[in-house]
Amino acid sequence: MQPKKIKDGVFFVGAVDWDRRLFDALIPLPDGTSYNAYLVKGSEKTALLDTVDPSKADVLMSCLDGVKVIDYIVAHHAEQDHSGALPNVMAKYPQAKVITSPKGKPMLVEHVRIPEDRIVTVNDGQTLSLGDKTLEFIHTPWVHWPETMSTYLHEDRVLFTCDLFGSHLAVSGIYEPDKQRVREASKRYYAEVMMPFRAIVKKHIERFEKYPVQIIAPSHGPVLSDPDFIVQCHRDWVSDRLANTVILPYVSMHGSTEAMVERLVEALSERGIQAERHNLAVTDAGRFAMALVDAATMVIGSPTVLGGAHPKVISAAFLANALKPKMKFAAIIGSYGWGGKMPEQITATLANLKLEFLSPVVVKGKPAANDLAALDALAAQIAARHKAEGISP
Ligand code: FEO
Repeated sequence: MQPKKIKDGVFFVGAVDWDRRLFDALIPLPDGTSYNAYLVKGSEKTALLDTVDPSKADVLMSCLDGVKVIDYIVAHHAEQDHSGALPNVMAKYPQAKVITSPKGKPMLVEHVRIPEDRIVTVNDGQTLSLGDKTLEFIHTPWVHWPETMSTYLHEDRVLFTCDLFGSHLAVSGIYEPDKQRVREASKRYYAEVMMPFRAIVKKHIERFEKYPVQIIAPSHGPVLSDPDFIVQCHRDWVSDRLANTVILPYVSMHGSTEAMVERLVEALSERGIQAERHNLAVTDAGRFAMALVDAATMVIGSPTVLGGAHPKVISAAFLANALKPKMKFAAIIGSYGWGGKMPEQITATLANLKLEFLSPVVVKGKPAANDLAALDALAAQIAARHKAEGISP
């Protein structure tokens, strides 16, 4: 592999992982991903910004084949998909120092077993001269871990944001191939990784405003040559704006809960509310997470299994609870055979979220006419609450 030029003295030396299909043994990657590393060559010193996942260390090392000296390795983030190949690079360049945030140092020691004496910490706003290029380190905690930082390359106006503004999207070139495709992949990535830190992302975006940026170079997915586009997308996702949408994650074992979902979708649609069904038996967790980004309401549908909610429903509720979407309303619907604690279990699983729970519709067996009427009433209640909150089509 050869370094790919972004600007004079600035190169992409990362690895594209076309075939990876799962991240953290949890997140589906329908479009693969990439682990982006960048080489910045100044007139006096050379810095490598991040490494790659250990599974792709050979790609990074082949990109560095012709690079005789690296003085600094900037580790923006200790997570192994960026720091995992540090030992390979450090072995090849024994004089190189690892630059990281003060919180990053112990994490690199603990997670990657980097020797402490090879690590130099930098403060927020500290600069490092490479000769004719200047790196400024910007602490950006919680995007994604508490130690994470970004780097601004002053002379070239490139902002290296690590996980922030990234996407799990494998592409053959270095830049975004199609903005809408990048928007879709970035929204998925934001939902899965950044959404729990929505307020913090908002603050970091505000902090970045003082830097004139020509290129955003994240650590996953394409390099972004139109920074305004991706920043505007994120501004929308982190804003308090809610979509006039109801997300319906559900499981149905014998068709009763599904019939309830169908009726509710119809009733919502008649009231001008977009309804998004996610059959949890087949849906992809990433699509479900994306739907959580701006939906105003979630209606969870579950049958009863051995006295409780269906395990796939609990899993989805647990994920929603962890991702902390900004939604305001929730309701529970479903069918049971002879009893159980399904609604209570689901409500308890969503304890992190500040939700107003609307009237549940839980029926015994197949929904009867009065049950379907209760679903119509739930749709009307949702429409009224959306209207009262100013959530319009
Ligand atoms: Fe891409 Fe949080 O690592």
